[in-house]
Amino acid sequence: MGPNHSGIGASRNRAIAGLLACAAALIVPASPHADEAQPLRLCADPTNLPFSSDSPSQPGFYVEIGQALAQALGRPVAYDWYKSYFGKRTVRVTLLGKQCDAMIGLPRSEDFMGPAVIFSSTFAKEGYALVAPKGQALNGVDGLKGKRVAVQFASTPQNLLAGRDDIQKVTVLSPEEGMQALDQGKADVAFIWGPVAGWLNKTSYDDRYQIQLTEGEGLSWDAAIGFAKTSTELRDRVDAVLPQLQGTIAALAVKYGLPTGQPARFGATQAMPAGTTTGTGPGATQTASVVATETKGDAAAPAAEAGKEIFNGTCAHCHGPDAIQSERKIDLRLLRHRYGDDMRDTFWKTVHEGRPTKGMPAWKEVFTDDQFDHIFSFLLTVQSESND
Ligand code: HEC
Repeated sequence: MGPNHSGIGASRNRAIAGLLACAAALIVPASPHADEAQPLRLCADPTNLPFSSDSPSQPGFYVEIGQALAQALGRPVAYDWYKSYFGKRTVRVTLLGKQCDAMIGLPRSEDFMGPAVIFSSTFAKEGYALVAPKGQALNGVDGLKGKRVAVQFASTPQNLLAGRDDIQKVTVLSPEEGMQALDQGKADVAFIWGPVAGWLNKTSYDDRYQIQLTEGEGLSWDAAIGFAKTSTELRDRVDAVLPQLQGTIAALAVKYGLPTGQPARFGATQAMPAGTTTGTGPGATQTASVVATETKGDAAAPAAEAGKEIFNGTCAHCHGPDAIQSERKIDLRLLRHRYGDDMRDTFWKTVHEGRPTKGMPAWKEVFTDDQFDHIFSFLLTVQSESND
């Protein structure tokens, strides 16, 4: 029969092609022609549940997505385990160092190491979440009035609520401590990193809490799969199979306790403490940069704009998004106030060498001097005499 016959022929051809590919692979081990048989190499942190783990019995959300993805692409999977502390440094060493082909769970933003890193479409939304005992109504930011709210030191939620006298803040040092504060009755609500809250709720607290995702500036982002910019072909193939994996991904989110459902929106006005939006100073600049980011049109201050992106990608984690920080010691809007003419020198020395004993990492291996200049240009636009 015709079709059957041609089928055999095709498979024989494929076998021959495979042999040729093997032969080629013997001579040139990294031959792209052997691509089909090559494992999909994933970079992941071995100890970062609910996202990733090197334990085969509990691989984590990202690793299981990677496994499903590899299967859909007809490739085996391989791992490059790398203990990560700082996102961008890890991406530079692993993904851009060609130790792996894809990294699952990067923030899908051109600002995140673009154009060196390219992205798949979004597969999940991640962010901070409100956590409270089941049965107690959670109504976004308004529902927090009069409540004791656990927030992590130097986090976006702490910054957001800093100006709210009607909300009592309970400062904690980790999402784990936030959950404990709830459990011990020291807080009514915890406003903490959602995936970790969900994971702990599931694994340590018998699912006693309800968890509502939030969204807004610095509160949430789209998670995607990142590739080196040369991997457009792989990226396109991944994008082609991602839609059929949505069901699997949704089931995995439930398996690992990740918060799902409609997020509570926190407005941009609440994100900016009083004082930063008045007059023609820092507030005006900030508004202009937000517009520039959205339209990609305004080239008024490209260095400051680039610096702001680096800052929000790496430094905001401790120093606050857009450098808005209620803790004076790490409020970088006070650099000029504090150091005057020595501002630039102090900045330069601190970002290069860090202050390791005080919790400020050294960044000289991570950024170029041009990038430090850009960050400094951004910080110049937000200087202020006080932080309240
Ligand atoms: C892990 C948290 C963390 C991250 C991330 C971080 N910093 Fe810091 N940074 C600190 C801490 C804590 C201090 C205060 C050290 C001290 O008490 O002297 C500090 C101090 C500084 C200072 C000196 C402030 C002063 O008034 O003396 C500068 C400048 C600075 N950081 C810039 C940056 C930049 C730029 C980035 C991003 C590239 C960054 N930091 C990322 C924790 C961090």
